[in-house]
Amino acid sequence: MQLSLHTGHDGKGILHTSTSGSSLTPPVTPIGKESSERIVTPLSETSDEHSAALFRRNITTPLRFTDELEPCLDERGRRIEFGEGVWSKVYKARSTPTTNPATTTNNNTLLNTPPSSPINASRVVAVKTSRRGDAGPVLKTEALILTRLTLTPGHENHIVPFHGFHAETQSLVMTAVPLALSTYIEEAANRVRNQPIATATMFDPFLGPEPWKDLARKLISSLGWLHHTAGIMHGDVKPHSILLRPIEVAEGRQDMTNGNGNGSNAFRYEPLLADFSAAMDISPDPAENGNEEKTLSSFTAPFSAPEVLKSLRPGSGNPPPGPASDVFSLAATLLAAATGDVLLYPGCDFRRRNLMAGEGHQILDFIRSFGNGARVPRNGFVERLVRQAVVKDPAKRITAIEWVGLAEEVCGDGEA
Ligand SMILES: Nc1ncnc2c1ncn2[C@@H]1O[C@H](COP(=O)(O)OP(=O)(O)O)[C@@H](O)[C@H]1O
Ligand SMILES: [Mg+2]
Repeated sequence: MQLSLHTGHDGKGILHTSTSGSSLTPPVTPIGKESSERIVTPLSETSDEHSAALFRRNITTPLRFTDELEPCLDERGRRIEFGEGVWSKVYKARSTPTTNPATTTNNNTLLNTPPSSPINASRVVAVKTSRRGDAGPVLKTEALILTRLTLTPGHENHIVPFHGFHAETQSLVMTAVPLALSTYIEEAANRVRNQPIATATMFDPFLGPEPWKDLARKLISSLGWLHHTAGIMHGDVKPHSILLRPIEVAEGRQDMTNGNGNGSNAFRYEPLLADFSAAMDISPDPAENGNEEKTLSSFTAPFSAPEVLKSLRPGSGNPPPGPASDVFSLAATLLAAATGDVLLYPGCDFRRRNLMAGEGHQILDFIRSFGNGARVPRNGFVERLVRQAVVKDPAKRITAIEWVGLAEEVCGDGEA
């Protein structure tokens, strides 16, 4: 793979070059379409922070993808799609290294470009491309954010690998990770739907206690990394924005999991954050932060925090949502993984779900009024982990970095 990175030297933050989402109508994200064991890395290493701060500056053009791309087609000649979201379609393609020397130079020493693949070696990738007229600027902004994240130490453990912006097709090229957490939850829920209720496990998280704790610890660690090390907020955290990369189990260690995700041990997948189309710079230094006018470009009830919905009301005067909204959304996502109800409130129509999302701080009470609420017992480990992440006032909500500590306490080895 050949990549080149072009950095600007005007001292501006990366979002200065993008057209902000402020002139766009925020669409509601449609829901329903849409390795090795991870080491939870320490988030406060000074050297990491220093290099992350260096990388934050001067990124005004995205990492470029210059290999050849060829869409994979089905037997009827149609593109094979991995999924679609509010802005884009993501399709399957093969990439082949280009031999054109003009496009294969990598003149940036900051980026550790992997060694070139052998000539003609092709590989499968995921290509995210626009599906509506106004998506161009959103995808370009996402490419800049992903470039910055890719230059931030530790990204391998937290985000879907990004290979660059393909200028010819105006699309983002990523490693293919074809399983979303939403699909995983839905498929597992379909499998158990007609089985008799097992009284021994009816108060356990749907994923099983240990897999749920494992998933929770890793996702909270990723959010801590995103906010604290990378200085970015995601803006649309939900089960559809989390992709699952299978963890290769060493031979002879298959007993680590029981194959259906309900076992008593580790979760079989490494969760990776994806879909940065609503992401924003949250750098503390205002000179680095170029999204003063930016508003969230999409939101998804019931995963959006109550203040996000309020800020969207015309003339609300409420401050724009910040990183605390991501904390709420991840808590709601973890609750979906505990109940097995991917949209949290089964059987509710869109209007009712929106109404409940507006009162989202009552989320624990709401989900207890549905059948699978028993999986979140009062004062059990699920509630203890999410309680402080769903409080009404975003200023009083636990921060991602504090939450990493709480997750170790509540979900660390040997805790119940
Ligand atoms: N790297 C990937 N590999 C496989 N599928 C992906 C990948 N990225 C996204 N998808 C699929 O495409 C869907 C839409 O992508 P997303 O980034 O959420 O787009 P949007 O910004 O339009 O919401 C996702 O829900 C997921 O199912
Ligand atoms: Mg999406």
